[in-house]
Amino acid sequence: MTNLHSPMQPSKLQNYNSTRGAEAYKADYRNKLHRKWSDQRERALLRAYFAELGSVDTILDLPCGHGRLSDLLKERCRHLIEADWSFTMVQLNQRDHGTDGRGYFRATALEIPLADRSVDVVVSFRLSHHLESQELRERHLRELFRVARKAVIVTWFSATSLKNLLRELRVKLVGKKPKNVLRNARVRALAEQCGFTQRLAKPLFRIGSGHVLGLFVRSAP
Ligand SMILES: C[S@@+](CC[C@H](N)C(=O)[O-])C[C@H]1O[C@@H](n2cnc3c(N)ncnc32)[C@H](O)[C@@H]1O
Repeated sequence: MTNLHSPMQPSKLQNYNSTRGAEAYKADYRNKLHRKWSDQRERALLRAYFAELGSVDTILDLPCGHGRLSDLLKERCRHLIEADWSFTMVQLNQRDHGTDGRGYFRATALEIPLADRSVDVVVSFRLSHHLESQELRERHLRELFRVARKAVIVTWFSATSLKNLLRELRVKLVGKKPKNVLRNARVRALAEQCGFTQRLAKPLFRIGSGHVLGLFVRSAP
């Protein structure tokens, strides 16, 4: 069972919260080819998205993990806030990146302990597809839109991606577990409800990945 306080599989959460799991996630991005490729592509898209936005005062990166994107984001703001559900990830990140122009705290992205419109840009990479219900995935998006003053950059796993369509076949044929997906149209509609417009939504890769990176900008100040 998953709920607000345990929104992904408990074994996955325990893994991210353990020193071994956090170090292993960090090492994957150094050692595994597919991780290096997706990291490069995500960085290229992030740079392009920030080119649209320009430099800002504050960015919240939630979940920050071990700080994979920390340096790239810090170059684009005066103050970077790094937050994650896992204490271990936050500690590792702070140890590696320091506190100059950066703050750290532990939080769930489903109930962010910040006021409405308190941060210029909220970035949330690679969390949505871990959240086990549609309700939680939508709640996550609503929280990002609530806290962001100007823009949200977020990833989700697209229901209409080739990777998910193939998975749906395997769900039917061999009883595989379904992916935690969102429909792109539903994400756009939710953004509109929260006062945001989708500016860009690019797939990480068309083949081999179902992740989409979206840039949403607040429509009215
Ligand atoms: C796949 S990692 C992504 C980390 C980072 N965004 C990146 O792209 O490298 C998922 C992260 O989500 C964190 N996490 C899991 N559930 C969370 C929640 N409800 N709120 C905030 N962070 C959460 C985990 O601790 C882990 O660091």
